[in-house]
Amino acid sequence: MTPVTYDPLDPAFLADPYPAFAWLREHDPVHHHPADHRAPAFWALSRFEHVWDAVRRPEVFSSAGGLTFFPDEIGQLGIPPTIVMLDPPRQTQLRALIGRGFTPKRVAVLEARIRSFVRSRLEELAARYADGATVDFHAEFSSTVPTYVLAELLGVPEADRERFAPWVLALTELQNDGFDSAALTGSHASTDALTAMAEMMEYFTAAIAARRAEPADDLLGALVEAEVADDDGSVQRLSDWDVLGFCFVVVAGGSDTTASLITHALALLEEAPDQRRLLLDDPSLLPGALVEFLRLESSVQGLARTTLRDVDVDGTTIPAGEKVMMLYAAANRDPREFGPTADRVDVRREIPRHLSFSSGPHFCIGSHLARLQARVALEELLEAHPWISLDAAAGRRHESPFVRGWVSVPVARL
Ligand code: HEM
Repeated sequence: MTPVTYDPLDPAFLADPYPAFAWLREHDPVHHHPADHRAPAFWALSRFEHVWDAVRRPEVFSSAGGLTFFPDEIGQLGIPPTIVMLDPPRQTQLRALIGRGFTPKRVAVLEARIRSFVRSRLEELAARYADGATVDFHAEFSSTVPTYVLAELLGVPEADRERFAPWVLALTELQNDGFDSAALTGSHASTDALTAMAEMMEYFTAAIAARRAEPADDLLGALVEAEVADDDGSVQRLSDWDVLGFCFVVVAGGSDTTASLITHALALLEEAPDQRRLLLDDPSLLPGALVEFLRLESSVQGLARTTLRDVDVDGTTIPAGEKVMMLYAAANRDPREFGPTADRVDVRREIPRHLSFSSGPHFCIGSHLARLQARVALEELLEAHPWISLDAAAGRRHESPFVRGWVSVPVARL
């Protein structure tokens, strides 16, 4: 195998990271990445077994040091520290409280509304396409689905939705700048994005205060009232700051990830017409196929942990206090776990475990909701336009080593 350099900030790597991931897995599975003028030194794990094991040991691999290989990326934004950057036991406590409000039932009731939103969206886009307009599949379809769902979930009334959509985009923009420290200090994050964040903070602070003043039968209302008894018998509740942190983490973590899943699904099917045929003939394959799409094109490519003590991985000692990237996307294509066809799309593949939603204490809280909306969006799309085709070559991707997603992809044929 020809050596392939792993340079996570190189545009060529970001365009197609998979050859470098394959190289790391085979030849340098516990990779030490030296510091350079762009980022401090860090380690990277790429084999399934190693990543799986590490994310399930928060007592060694902590989330509290930040989720990227840049220093203190979130601290500078002034938003609440969210669950995803906490360790047990505080993280376990918060998760139990969030679980009281964010229940599978609350997610399931959204299905009918998501379906009617998707249908009307498709009708609108089909009409514009018929009029000769260029339709951006990602920006005008995929991205609108999670934005709608998050607004529904967080109880943003119709009248405020026009304000909500730019907040989602702003948070995505800040995140997808690659958590570059320059972006976070404002030197190249647009002022618009930072203003939008401040507005969102103010909006949800007021919404939470309103739920405290008057109980409401929505997610924020449920979170405000959630209670969990601790081992010592004391009752725990979420503070306003905790609920606000939850609003931020679901908007930051639940929008672009889901939108990318929808666009990637179609891009992958485009490359494998036989697989599309299978799905069209048997739509019951779709839930499994979505896991396969996420495995091959993991929206979250990798996030960091910080070692709390010296730890041995595969015979190499990683010292305490080091950043270690969990390369979910590399692990998800490991032939040791997925066999010799790991790089190929197979909508009928049996996938007993994968790392697209991580594993262990931080396993994605929104995985059901993500799969629900992607399933509904693709069911409706493939029903209405079974052979829709994208002009992926004219598409534009985010450039981030942490999330893999799109900015825009035009529809080539509807
Ligand atoms: C395809 C879509 C999605 C993907 C690929 C995804 C992926 C992930 C991953 C990999 C993590 C673990 C982070 C880590 O390793 O530190 C995570 C955590 C999380 N996700 Fe998702 N996510 C998706 C959608 C959603 C949605 C729709 C929501 C909520 C509405 C959501 C809410 C969360 C939250 C709250 C956490 C933090 C859990 C914790 O720290 O205990 N995600 N997600």
